[in-house]
Amino acid sequence: MVIFGGFMDKGKNYEVKDMKLAGQGSLNIELAESRMQALMNVKQRFAKEKPLKGARIGMALHVTKETAVLVSTLIAGGAEVAITGCNPLSTQDDVAAAMAEEGTKVWAYKGETKDDYYRYINYVINFKPNLTIDDGCDLVSEIHKKHTHLIKDIIAGCEETTTGIIRLKAMERDSALKYPMIAVNDNKTKHLLDNFYGTGQSTIDGILRSTNILFAGKNVVVCGYGSCGKGVSLRAKGMGSNVIVTEVDPFRALQAALDGFRVMPIKEAAEMGDIFITVTGNKNVVDIAHMKLMKEGVVLANSGHFDAEININELKKIAKARRVRPFLDEYSINGKKIFICGEARLVNLAAAEGHPSEVMSTSFCGQALACEYAVKNKGKMAPKVIQLPEEIDNHIAKLQLEAMGINIDKLTAEQKKYLESWQEGT
Ligand code: NAI
Repeated sequence: MVIFGGFMDKGKNYEVKDMKLAGQGSLNIELAESRMQALMNVKQRFAKEKPLKGARIGMALHVTKETAVLVSTLIAGGAEVAITGCNPLSTQDDVAAAMAEEGTKVWAYKGETKDDYYRYINYVINFKPNLTIDDGCDLVSEIHKKHTHLIKDIIAGCEETTTGIIRLKAMERDSALKYPMIAVNDNKTKHLLDNFYGTGQSTIDGILRSTNILFAGKNVVVCGYGSCGKGVSLRAKGMGSNVIVTEVDPFRALQAALDGFRVMPIKEAAEMGDIFITVTGNKNVVDIAHMKLMKEGVVLANSGHFDAEININELKKIAKARRVRPFLDEYSINGKKIFICGEARLVNLAAAEGHPSEVMSTSFCGQALACEYAVKNKGKMAPKVIQLPEEIDNHIAKLQLEAMGINIDKLTAEQKKYLESWQEGT
């Protein structure tokens, strides 16, 4: 069922699908820039101040038009950059070609084999980065497992997603983490725009592009009610779906119930759902036993970081499969059909274009400012998972408000004094 593959275009500093796509890639990057004003403001300042001079930034991020704008921002700041993807299905081949044409070191194509995926990560490692940017922790993990000699020269790393943070905290607990990691994912601006609004919209976009299914009137089961699950539930509700939430965390389950959604165990939801969307960061959340209970013709999609949330490996063993169209596979179990979008990889990037540019603008302000923070604080950060100071997070919110043309009030001196004092009462 492999629809990808074929020959790659290779050069000294790149390996991409097809350099002939570069023209379209440049147009897409230009379009992204026009919607990423907050990041473009950072880029303009970086171009003047060169805060990243001497930085060698190795990146494993989804190679999209928005990531290309981040790369050009880091280069404007004086950094050298080498990049590969962080998921075998998320690269936009036209963008990768455009980046290669600009002279960026880039190794990525959509539909990478596992061997190529890790070969490319190792090309980034061979570039000897002194800063790393990861989405899912594969680059950091590879450096810690096989290239420990490089660690002494690494100032810090930045992590883009929840799953990566979970892996990094596990490393920290085992005293295995050897250089400081900035949890860009945990910026409140990132969580709000990216996990909530971004995943909310683009997950539905991926399912629509791969199936063109009507959401109105359908029972949509959302597994996981974190920031991503909340965004997906809200958007599905807005499209007229009856949303059912499954959770393991009592507080999150309570939130879902109070937000007006039905909450139940996946075993019960399995029999009722028409569309299932996993966003938990966990594994086998939709398992074979659940699939056996499902109705004819259900659609399954995952928007969590890894393709572990739907047990597709076991499904492949018991079901007959065929590709119906790009990013939609049909599996038959005893004559019953189950459709899986984007090979159960994060559907918004596999079957659509990921988050809208406006969303990635704020996420990537976080990445760019985290790199600047790391360089400024070189040698002062412990090898732990650390959070950017709140002023930087608030500055990102301000940049995005400016980009949206929104002004807000300022505290008066009297109000500031009132909030800082405890004497005044009724
Ligand atoms: P989160 O940790 O805030 O929420 C996940 C929720 O899933 C938690 O409430 C947890 O209790 C619940 N959960 C865990 N196991 C479960 C199970 N077996 N059944 C039901 N619920 C379960 O994480 P967040 O930020 O919402 O991210 C979720 C996933 O999405 C992560 O893998 C993250 O990396 C990924 N992500 C994907 C994006 C995309 O573009 N597709 C963007 C941002 C994050």
